[in-house]
Amino acid sequence: MPATARATATKTTLPIYQQLAGVLEEMIQSKSLRPGDRMPSVRQFSRQQGVSIPTAMSAYASLETRGLIEARPKSGFFVRLRESDLVRNPWSQSKISKITDFANLDPLHSIMADHSNPKFVPLGAGLPSASLLPGLKLARLMGSIARRLPSAGLDYDIAPGSEMLRRELARRSLDWGCHLKAEDFIITNGGTEAVSLALRAVTEPGDTVIVETPTYFGFSNILRELRLKALPIPIDATTGIDIDALGTALKTNRVAAAILIPNFHNPMGCLMPDDHKKEVATLLAEQGIPIIEDDIYGDLRHSGARPRCLKAFDPDGSVLLCSTFSKVLAPGYRVGYIAPGRYRDRIHKLKDTSTMANATLPTLAVAEFVKHGGYDRHLRHLQHAFSHQVQRMREAIVQTFPENIGLSRPQGNFLLWCELPKQVDSLELFKRARAANISVAPGPLFSSDGGYKNFIRINCGHPWTPTIERSIGILGHLVHQLAR
Ligand SMILES: Cc1ncc(COP(=O)(O)O)c(C=O)c1O
Repeated sequence: MPATARATATKTTLPIYQQLAGVLEEMIQSKSLRPGDRMPSVRQFSRQQGVSIPTAMSAYASLETRGLIEARPKSGFFVRLRESDLVRNPWSQSKISKITDFANLDPLHSIMADHSNPKFVPLGAGLPSASLLPGLKLARLMGSIARRLPSAGLDYDIAPGSEMLRRELARRSLDWGCHLKAEDFIITNGGTEAVSLALRAVTEPGDTVIVETPTYFGFSNILRELRLKALPIPIDATTGIDIDALGTALKTNRVAAAILIPNFHNPMGCLMPDDHKKEVATLLAEQGIPIIEDDIYGDLRHSGARPRCLKAFDPDGSVLLCSTFSKVLAPGYRVGYIAPGRYRDRIHKLKDTSTMANATLPTLAVAEFVKHGGYDRHLRHLQHAFSHQVQRMREAIVQTFPENIGLSRPQGNFLLWCELPKQVDSLELFKRARAANISVAPGPLFSSDGGYKNFIRINCGHPWTPTIERSIGILGHLVHQLAR
């Protein structure tokens, strides 16, 4: 067992057998241990790790229950080849599309509304289950802060926003490969406000903005409202934006900005490697094009180290880094932030005239949680849960959907992007699934020109239940029907 893996194991506060299972899982996910490889014997593993045989056995049992390894009579344990390991990646576009306006698609509102309606199985909106979020702890923190503050938190928290939170963000920015200071941040009402302020700071109505295709549907809403046009650039299912296509598009188009999700893309799940991040940051900086980086999923790697932000390679302050605590702590608290580089003054002014201030108590509760509340421990639990849920969902989809589908392999976040057979109209699937009280996100929401008709995005943010399992069965049945 490599020393680094052992170090990771000893840092966490999970029971020892789970820590060890996590280390082995990391090795399986990263293909250090490949399908078909023999695992060290339980005795050998217990000796290597300095733990008892029952502890080593429990670690193996936990991996076996989760379908990651299997016992073969008289031969020991082997890494299992799962059906979902064989499924191909979803198709990704290779041609550069034309500049377009984003269409206004009806399903968007119902997807967001259906998430809070207990009648629906929430596979549509990209949100974690509240059961995985520290709701009670945050509420207690908010109560105790209100009691401590002289005016019970009734004051405005005007821009740039809570200094305590900005200091915590500065400290954490070292993990992102950045060296940001508290004064580099402005706190926002969630990630949506951060992205919206960034776009307003660097564009004028009528401008063209580079987007990835597919991309997060929230961007389309903002672009449309700001009367901006989209220039969609293809992305690779594993490494993110196609740098050659980006270079080609820049030769023939005037572009005001680019908006990218380099870490665990929504909906594709891909992770841009560091050398690509550097190349993209340099290429766009050379042409004077600011990059709006959305790093909302950066903390949600399933295993291994947190990836760096593209901002870590920002040569001249032209990357506006946006993020939020919506996917890890509390979407309803609306606490996000932006590190706008050289656009800081402009963003500050825009913030003053858009929402002026943030909700004081939720912001302080988030700041205290990040500072003293075991944020890293919480992240580890989330990473573990999401990795497990995504894997369960992949297995269930592969077992019930038609054979020729493509399925993303996210290394982080809790979203799956699924390519269905060509004949399947995902807007029709969305309607039929909704009639069966199942919410899913149809592919065209992630496109600027109604593309991805036979794609859906599936939210895996909820712990696995028989209801979810049944819903995937129903979805599979509907997909088979529509594929005929
Ligand atoms: C990529 C991306 N950016 C921004 C947001 C919105 O964040 P917030 O809810 O904090 O506004 C989301 C939510 O799904 C997202 O996926």
